[in-house]
Amino acid sequence: ANDDARGATKEAPELGSVVLDRSDPAFLARSPEIYEEARAKGPVVRARHYPFPRDEEERKSVMAGDRPVGEVLFVSHYEEAADALLDARLASDPFARMTPEQRAHMPQVPEELRPIAYSLLMLDPPDHTRLRKLVQPSFNARAMEALRPRIQRLTDDLLDKAEQEAAARGESAPERRMDLVKAFAYPLPVTVISDMLGIPEEDRETVSQLGELRIENRDPVVMQETRKMLVAFSHYLVDLFERKRRAPGDDMISQMIHAQEDGDKLNDKELLSMVFLLYLAGHVTTVNLIGNGVVALLTHPEQLARFKADPGLAKGVVEETLRYWGPVDYLGAVRTAREDLEIAGVSIPKGGQVMIGLGSANRDPAQFEDPHAYDITREGAHRHIAFGKGIHLCLGAPLARIEGQIAFEILFRRYPDLRLAVPAETLRWGGAAGLRGFRELPVLF
Ligand code: HEM
Repeated sequence: ANDDARGATKEAPELGSVVLDRSDPAFLARSPEIYEEARAKGPVVRARHYPFPRDEEERKSVMAGDRPVGEVLFVSHYEEAADALLDARLASDPFARMTPEQRAHMPQVPEELRPIAYSLLMLDPPDHTRLRKLVQPSFNARAMEALRPRIQRLTDDLLDKAEQEAAARGESAPERRMDLVKAFAYPLPVTVISDMLGIPEEDRETVSQLGELRIENRDPVVMQETRKMLVAFSHYLVDLFERKRRAPGDDMISQMIHAQEDGDKLNDKELLSMVFLLYLAGHVTTVNLIGNGVVALLTHPEQLARFKADPGLAKGVVEETLRYWGPVDYLGAVRTAREDLEIAGVSIPKGGQVMIGLGSANRDPAQFEDPHAYDITREGAHRHIAFGKGIHLCLGAPLARIEGQIAFEILFRRYPDLRLAVPAETLRWGGAAGLRGFRELPVLF
C-alpha cells in the first residue's frame, strides 16, 4: 500500500521548499542560513526563485505566493550538485525545451541580448565542444604561468597609483584610504582580460563601462540603458574585429579571427558572443574573489595572522575563499531536463528546470567538516565546486586562481596593516543575479 501511495504521488512528492529571493538586499547575507535550511530539507528542494522582478510590488506578491512563478528545483547537497553538473541529460541551453521553430524566433530574447543568450555557457555539445576547443589552449596552465610576471607588475602598478592618490590627498600610511574594489580588485582582472583579448589601451575606458552592467531587475529604465550599452558594445566589437582582420595582433581576438578564416570553425555571431563572454566572465567574478578574500581575512584575524606568517598559504586563501564565499553563489543559468529523470529520487519531468546551488554544496557538512568555518589551511578545500564541474568547468579557473594568489600575496606583503575603514557589519553584499561580492570596499592601508 505504501508503494502504491508513493507511486500515486510521484508528481507531488513531499518536497521541501525554499525561497530564493535574490532581489532582497539581505539575501546574500542570509543565504548560508537559507541553504542550510534547504540542505536539511533534502538534496533537492523546490525553490521559489525570481531574480528579476519589475518592481517592489511584483517582488512582494511573487514571494508571498500570490503569483505563480516557473518552478525551479534547487540542488542543495554537494554530491547531487556535482553529479548534476556532470549529467548530460541536463542541458545548459535555456531553449532546450523549445522546438527548432520556436527557437528561431525566440520571442522573449531581444535581438541585442542574443549574443549573451547564445554564449558558450548556454550551449550544449556539439556546438559547445567545437567552440570551447578554440579558446581552451589560451587558458592552459602553461599559458597562465607565462602571464604571472605581467599580473605581478600590474598589481604593483595599481597599488603604487593608489598610494600616489592618497599622498595627493595628504594621507600617510597606515591611514591612507582606498576603495579596494575600485582601485584594485576591479581594474586588475579587467586589464588582464583586455590584454589577452587584445582590446586596445585607448578603448578600455569606454569598454569598461560595460562592467557596470546591472541586470538586477526589469525596471524599464535599467533595461533600456542595459540594452543601449549592449548594442554599443556589440558595435564596438564588430568594428574592432574589422580592424583586427586588417591588422592582426598577438591576441585572442586575432587568433579567433584567424581560426574563422581557416575554415568555418565559428561564425560571426559566435565570435561576438565568445568575446562578450570572455570579457565579462573574465572579470566580474574575479573582482569578487579578491574582495571576498580580503574581507574574509580581515574578519578572521587568526587566519590573517597565519597567512602573514606564511605567504605560501596564498593558494589556501584562494581555495577557501572560493569555497566559503564563492563569487558564484548559485548558477543563475538553470539547467533544463532533456528527458524525464530523477535526482536523489525526485522526479524531474522533461523540460523541468534545475538550479545548482554551488554555494550550498560548498558548505555541505557531508563534504566539508565544520563548513561554516573559514580555514585557509583546510585540507581538501579545493574540492569545492565554485568553478562548476564537467564540460562547462570554468575556462578561466587557472587565470582566476593566479590573479587571486598574486593579489593576496602582494597586498598583504605591502600592507601588513591593511584594515577595513568601516565596521564589517556595514559592508553590503551586491552583485548581479547569482553573484556574491562587494561593490565597494573602503580600506585603510
Ligand atoms: C564558466 C565561475 C573566472 C571564463 C564558469 C562556471 C562557473 C564559473 C561556476 C560554470 C558555469 C556553468 O556551469 O553554467 C568563475 C569564478 C571565477 C571565474 C568563481 C573567479 C573566481 C573566470 C575568468 C574567466 C572565466 C577569469 C576568463 C576569462 C569562463 C567561461 C566559462 C566559465 C568562458 C564558460 C565555460 C563553458 O561554458 O564551457 N565560471 N569563473 N571565468 N567561466 Fe568562469
